[in-house]
Amino acid sequence: MIMNDTYILGIETSCDETSVSIVKNGVTEIATVVSSQMDTHAKFGGVVPEIASRMHVEVITMVLEECLNKASITMDDIDAIAVTYAPGLIGCLLVGVTFASTLSYIYNKPLVPVHHIIGHIYANNLKSRLKFPLISLVVSGGHTEIVYMDKDYSFKKIGGTLDDAVGEAYDKVARVINVPYPGGPTVDKLAHIGNNTYNLPTPLDDNSYNFSFSGIKSAVINLVHNETQRGNEINKEDLCCTFQNKVVDILTKKTIKALKEYKCNNLIVAGGVSANSGLRKRLTEICNDKNISLTYPEIRLCTDNAAMIASAGYYAYKLGIISDINLKARPSSSMY
Ligand code: KG4
Ligand code: ZN
Repeated sequence: MIMNDTYILGIETSCDETSVSIVKNGVTEIATVVSSQMDTHAKFGGVVPEIASRMHVEVITMVLEECLNKASITMDDIDAIAVTYAPGLIGCLLVGVTFASTLSYIYNKPLVPVHHIIGHIYANNLKSRLKFPLISLVVSGGHTEIVYMDKDYSFKKIGGTLDDAVGEAYDKVARVINVPYPGGPTVDKLAHIGNNTYNLPTPLDDNSYNFSFSGIKSAVINLVHNETQRGNEINKEDLCCTFQNKVVDILTKKTIKALKEYKCNNLIVAGGVSANSGLRKRLTEICNDKNISLTYPEIRLCTDNAAMIASAGYYAYKLGIISDINLKARPSSSMY
């Protein structure tokens, strides 16, 4: 352990993963533990907030202990504690924030508040150090945005969804074709087997950087209902393929336009849907063609985890973004 190294302990509990991680100097992941509640919530077809917060309480101390053991370091070696304070399910955020504040008090370590979406963006920093200026395409279960960054921790929103997030649309499509929660990864798999045979609308096909996914989602729901009423069987693979193609078309077109207008040669993709293989494939082809450097996180760091919070927390800490122990959890809060 070198004296100048900075070790950040990250804590993430905003939805249905309890996670603790230790990251060195913002870029080197030392150890990460993720305890997922996915199997429990799958029975209900979505995250049940009350159950989620209770499960965080049950496991969080063990997740911390396991992470410290894995990293072979103690709390004394930690420089600061970074925690997701927003946005997310309030009961879930409260568990992480209370736990982090308590650790900060007991061990006398600075407490660093991190916005969950900033965390998703910094998951890319664990793959390779961010290069500026960059465009970040943020695609998660709750957010769909195009963000411009010219330096660390500086975020300018240049567009976003006017209604549903893209991950949310994936999960609703999955539900209507009876694919278990969370449907995104399964719709992605089915899409690869199918063909682009159905007709879906292209909403907001304009010059703006905004998106709208509720129209496509409703079109899929109507299509399934109409076919079912007529006694026709839906070809799930083809429907997933058509849906995925449409979503990827829309996301790619506006992202490439933003890169051009903002004169950026660096693109990063953030949030759960950055795991989508159709999106990765299309962006890879276009970025290769246009000589744009493209980064997306490792698959396991695309969805919620504390390593991304610890990475973002390092840059926040260096900028002096530190909270007292009365840090409040916020279910919705802007990162701009
Ligand atoms: O970022 P995330 O873990 O949670 C939020 O911050 O919202 O994203 C979860 C979302 C879910 O909607 C899930 O279905 C979607 O990411 N997702 C995917 C894939 N993997 C996860 N969507 C499409 N294709 C995937 N491979
Ligand atoms: Zn997330």
